[in-house]
Amino acid sequence: MRVHIYPTAHELAEAAADYVATSIKNTKRPMTLGLAGGSTPRATYHRLAEAAVDWSQITLWLGDERWVPHDHSESNTRMVRESLADRVVARLVAPDTAFGEPGDAAAAYGRLLADVFFDGRPDVVILGIGDDGHTASLFPASGALEDDSGIYLANWVQEKGVWRLTASMTLLRSARELAFLVQGEDKARVLSEIIDDGLPHPAQRVASGANAVRWMLDEAAASKLRTIRR
Ligand code: 6PG
Repeated sequence: MRVHIYPTAHELAEAAADYVATSIKNTKRPMTLGLAGGSTPRATYHRLAEAAVDWSQITLWLGDERWVPHDHSESNTRMVRESLADRVVARLVAPDTAFGEPGDAAAAYGRLLADVFFDGRPDVVILGIGDDGHTASLFPASGALEDDSGIYLANWVQEKGVWRLTASMTLLRSARELAFLVQGEDKARVLSEIIDDGLPHPAQRVASGANAVRWMLDEAAASKLRTIRR
């Protein structure tokens, strides 16, 4: 587990974009890049769109999606399009949230992704964490956490009263590298529980079973870490 701490959210975004651009340049074959939703990665995606990389070899996909139309303000696909996908020639493969029921849409997206991944595994996946320790849309005590029926799942999130579509725990763990981008004081407690204490939050369970994990934090999010040397 590698932990990188940056003074500000802006510097975190710059470093994260540079890391992804370098990964793309170093991967001498078509590559997939899994993208987190939410607000943290938006600045990284904006900067990444300006990177001098060959986007024609890249397929972008979503680690999770809200069960809303793609033009909805809450849509991760919309956020990814606006900040990155509509600004580069990479291919974007997004869940179809207008397709039947959540379970059908998740299964259909999983079948699409299975044909996209190199050797059946994602390459680089960007993830965030919530202050409850969720990642992607693997929320605490939610059904998808223990569900291995497919690589992409519909997940009822009780505390929000919504459906989400999410990569499964197994799929995320199979990635060649996971990069968690975490910023802000509100994530400091849960981050310490994950990194210092190893509490089994969903994000910790994904990270502990993964191949290579990089934590990219701003100082505010890292402010409660006890076991990481600065
Ligand atoms: C989503 C996400 C989710 C996100 C965390 C952190 O759809 O919301 O993919 O897992 O990464 O909730 O969100 P923020 O970056 O907005 O704090």
